[in-house]
Parts: sequence; C-alpha cells; structure tokens
Amino acid sequence: MYEAYLNSFEDYGPKTLDEVRKYLDRTKKSREIFETVSEYIPYGVNSNQRFYPPYPIYMKRARGSSVWDVDDNLYIDFNMGYGALIVGHAHPKINEALHKQLEEGILYTFPYYLLEELTELITDILDIDMFRFSNSGSEAVMFAIRLARAFTGRDIIIKVEGSYHGTYDNVLFSIWPFRGLAGPRKMPVSVLETMGVPDAMEELVRIVPFNDVNPLVDILEEEGDDVAAIIVEPVMMNAGIIKPENGYLKSLRKLAYEYDVVLIFDEVKTALRAGLTTASQIYGVDPDIITVAKAIGGGAVVSLVGGIEEIMSLVGPTESIRIQGVVHAGTYNANPLSLRALYVTLTEILTEDSYRKMLDMNRKLLDGYTHLLREYDIPGYVEEFGVSGSLIFSDKKVKNFRDLMNLPFDLWYPLYYSMLNRGVIPMATGPEEMWTLSVQHTIEDIEKYLEALSDSFNVISEAKRYIEEW
Ligand SMILES: Cc1ncc(COP(=O)(O)O)c(C=O)c1O
Repeated sequence: MYEAYLNSFEDYGPKTLDEVRKYLDRTKKSREIFETVSEYIPYGVNSNQRFYPPYPIYMKRARGSSVWDVDDNLYIDFNMGYGALIVGHAHPKINEALHKQLEEGILYTFPYYLLEELTELITDILDIDMFRFSNSGSEAVMFAIRLARAFTGRDIIIKVEGSYHGTYDNVLFSIWPFRGLAGPRKMPVSVLETMGVPDAMEELVRIVPFNDVNPLVDILEEEGDDVAAIIVEPVMMNAGIIKPENGYLKSLRKLAYEYDVVLIFDEVKTALRAGLTTASQIYGVDPDIITVAKAIGGGAVVSLVGGIEEIMSLVGPTESIRIQGVVHAGTYNANPLSLRALYVTLTEILTEDSYRKMLDMNRKLLDGYTHLLREYDIPGYVEEFGVSGSLIFSDKKVKNFRDLMNLPFDLWYPLYYSMLNRGVIPMATGPEEMWTLSVQHTIEDIEKYLEALSDSFNVISEAKRYIEEW
C-alpha cells in the first residue's frame, strides 16, 4: 500500500522520491497508530483537514515553538493550530492559570465571575458593542447567520467563493469547488462541498468572487429584498492569504447599508493576527457582526460572535417570557478553563511589544522566502497578514479564488514532506494554508525554517523540471 504511494512520486524525480521514502521511514509509529485507529475513526482523524496521504503524523507533546511526534521526531511548528496558537505551545503563563483553574473546577454552567473583567477588555479590543461566547468558529458563524436572518427577516446568504467559514450547513458551499461545476468566474455557481446538506439549502446561498463588487451588485439588484447577510473574511485566509483591494471592503459596507443587508466579517482567522485588533479596524470598515475564534483563546476552546447592539440584543428572551429571541446556547460556552486562558492571553501575553517582535521575525521569514524563490528560479511570491504568511506559486498577483484555483499544485506534497524531514512544519499541505508565528518562536527558528526551505526548494526545483516534461 505504501509502496504504491511511494511509486506515485516516481515521475517527480529521485529527490522527491527520496523525501517521500524518508517520511515513510521516520514515521513508523504514526503509521501503526493510523492503521489501528482508522478502523474506528474514518481516516484516523477527527477533522477532515488533518488527514493527508498516506497518513498524518500523530503528535504526543508540544512546548514553545516545538512539537514532538510519536516517533520522537522534533518539529518546529509554524502551523500553530492553524493560527490559534499565537501564544505558542504550553505557554508558562497559560499553564499556571489553567493549573489554578483545574483546582477550582472546569465547568460550572453558571455564569463565571471573570466575565465582569472581560467584557470591557473584549469590546475595546474588538470594537464591538456586545458579544456572546461560544466554543468554535463554526458555532460563532452559525449564530451570526441566525442573528442576521432574525434581524432582517430574510433568508439568503451571500458568500465569497473560496472562503471557508467552518462546518455549518449554510456555509459549506464553494470552498474549493470542482472546476467543472463552479460556473463562470464573474458569476460563480454555488457548489455544495459535502453530502448530507439538503438541496433546499442551496436555494439560500449565493456565491460571489472576492475583490469584485459587480457580481454582488447584480445579485442585490435582483434579490436584495431576500438577502439577510453578506459574509466575508475581510482578508481571505483559507485560500492562501488574499488581501482586499483598495476600497473593496468599504464598497461592501456601502452596499450592505444600501440594501439593508447585515455585513458579517468572519474574523476567526484575522482577529488578533496583526496586533491586538481586528481586520475591520485595520481596514477602517465597521461590519455589523464579527465572528472571532482561534488566537483569542490562546489555544483554548473559545469563540465569540459580537457586533452592534441593535442586532446582538436580539439574543435571548424578548419581553414575553414565552417568546424567545434568537437562541444562543451551549453547555460549554464561556467555561472557566477557556475564559482563564483567554484572559491571560489578552492581558499578559499578546502585548504590543510581543507583536512587534513577531512582525519583525515574520519580515525576515518573508524576505528569506523571496530571496530563495529567486535563487531557485521558482515562480512565486509570498503574501503576509500580520504574523502569518502564505506561499503562492504564481508570478501574477492572486486576487481571488479563481486565480488560485488555476495554479499548479503538484509541488506542495514534495515541499511538505521535505520540510517535515528537516524538522519544520512549514504550514499545512496545500496552497490554502499559511504559516503563523507565535510569541515563543525565536530568530533561530526562522533561520532553521529558511535552511530547511533552501534544501526543500532544491528538491522541488528538480520536481518542477520533471513535471514540465510530463
Ligand atoms: C474564517 C474561518 N471561519 C470559521 C472557521 C471555523 O472555525 P472552527 O474550526 O473553530 O469551527 C474557520 C476555521 O478555520 C475559519 O478559518
């Protein structure tokens, strides 16, 4: 089975073949675990993204910027929980707070007193009137959409092609649609990403390209009276990193006002990524609702949906105690363990100074990438947002998902295995992901990354030459 997988890289040249062989050799215990658990857990993972062929590595320990797999291989981690771990692994301050909280209980399902200290802190940092805590980004998105529908009394959601907003049924459309089904670039068709979502849901979702408001205007002109919300990642961070062009987000704001549509910025990835702030504030645009998760919790399970009072105050019972407002509930919402981690993250770890250091290091990594791309004559560039960056194998600037979709992907796995073999988790396995630095990364980590990258670019340069001859 693994021999066949290895052989599938024969046409990539001897260097790639060697890297895949090395990966298989140094991850034998991971393979054993995979073979055992995948009999019971589909693909041996509990989130589809975690699987990559032929099997993922299974981790057992992490500290600082490092993580160890079950075969005792050490990796410097630049994936950092898809950006949830800007504090790094096992941060001593978070550990201390969590140990204390463990002694005091991890779940009350009564409101927790720390909320009093948190509310002003959070509304200030995120520039919102009100909010509610949940657990995952997907939940926050689900509540945001429910609120928008309740507020407008309408049902249709407009979503950007190539954006990911979690696993809620309403947004599992056109994340990475099949080319043949996706329709024209300027008028994308909504393509369902999963089995199990009713066809009726498709009636409620419209898809638009990023960085182009004309198709959006067309939809609003035609059916604006039925549209509840436009949901966007203000910086696309699930298709590599794609920045909004000048004026794009402001145009969205203007159109949403014009058609009385709720503007939702999904800031699950962008919030706190470039400082103690949101992309909304960086770009000077006020959405009605934002969703926040990942970095805010310092790795703990916490998210929130927040926004303007007019909408947020729909949550909960209305004047009549028998008529509920918008339902928002959850056994684990705002649990003490998560709130403790969040509190320490916001008050003691993510300081202006720590961001300055991370941004400096990221500059070095970005410059190193640019230099190596030139040195190895690999067409590509890097895009950054805050403490993250993504590699795009294209000479031309990618402005939306279609630009990305049309690029070749063959080099990603050789690059990934080659980096892992050199003790670096560079990002995830494909062009949709990015690296993220944490407060615990050091300049030595960046140097190690660039050394591994230089070797790995050597590998993929050869692969590229072989692929060109196919
Ligand atoms: C922009 C965005 N929204 C929502 C989600 C879903 O968050 P979660 O995985 O916590 O459910 C993600 C996850 O990566 C995301 O990137």
